[in-house]
Amino acid sequence: MITSDKELPVGFMDSGLGGLSVLIEAVHEMPSEDFLYFGDSANAPYGTKPQEEIRRLTYDVVRLLLNRGIKGLAVACNTATSAAVRSLREDYPGLPIVGIEPAIKPAVERNKGGRIIVLATPMTIAQEKYRKLVERYKGGTDLVSVPCPGLMEFVEEGDLGGPDLDRYFEEHLEKYLTPDTETIVLGCTHYPFIRDRLRKYLNNGGIEIIDGSLGTARELKRRLEEKGLLRSGERKGKIIMENSDRGTKKLERGRILLERAGIIL
Ligand code: DGL
Repeated sequence: MITSDKELPVGFMDSGLGGLSVLIEAVHEMPSEDFLYFGDSANAPYGTKPQEEIRRLTYDVVRLLLNRGIKGLAVACNTATSAAVRSLREDYPGLPIVGIEPAIKPAVERNKGGRIIVLATPMTIAQEKYRKLVERYKGGTDLVSVPCPGLMEFVEEGDLGGPDLDRYFEEHLEKYLTPDTETIVLGCTHYPFIRDRLRKYLNNGGIEIIDGSLGTARELKRRLEEKGLLRSGERKGKIIMENSDRGTKKLERGRILLERAGIIL
């Protein structure tokens, strides 16, 4: 049985750099906390792998984080969440664990009758968990799920705004855009980092682009608070970033992504 200690960092995992979009919100919500972020870029992408392999990779990262010592865990990856979060909660009942799922509920809640487009990895969309999520919230809305193989790679490679991204949108997204498209849900934690380019591509102030990172960060805070695990006081927490891709590039790119959000390591 895992026991959690207030002084420990909060663990974060993702298949690579994407989970940093959730970490950014968590740092803003809980500035006194320490965070240990592990990106599994050496094994990315997860989103085009079979479920069993995603689960195995996720467990490997979680074990590593637990060995280092964490008091809570954010599975900051929609793909890993759908493949493994349920069994993780069963296997580590003492540990507060939050996952992330595409923000379909808020998209439907604010829907005024136009189309909702969900962008996510092929595996997220193929999972039973996703089908149930859609079934639960979709109601009468026009909701279209668009698998995006190859999109997370732009973020991993540090291309957040080049013409290749526009070509990607043209090839994968354009055909789903209707004049009444109202909301695009970013259902993969890598995608918020290309939000600005997407907005530019859409060239339409009317389409709202949403993601679940703030909701997930708040849920994490709530869970830690509930267990009396939040740090108090004025201290400024620190962030440790690690990556299975041993080259320096991923860590450097991660540092830049945090810096763009005003978080200096
Ligand atoms: N960042 C991940 C997600 O939220 C997945 C990217 C991938 O490894 O395919 O789904």
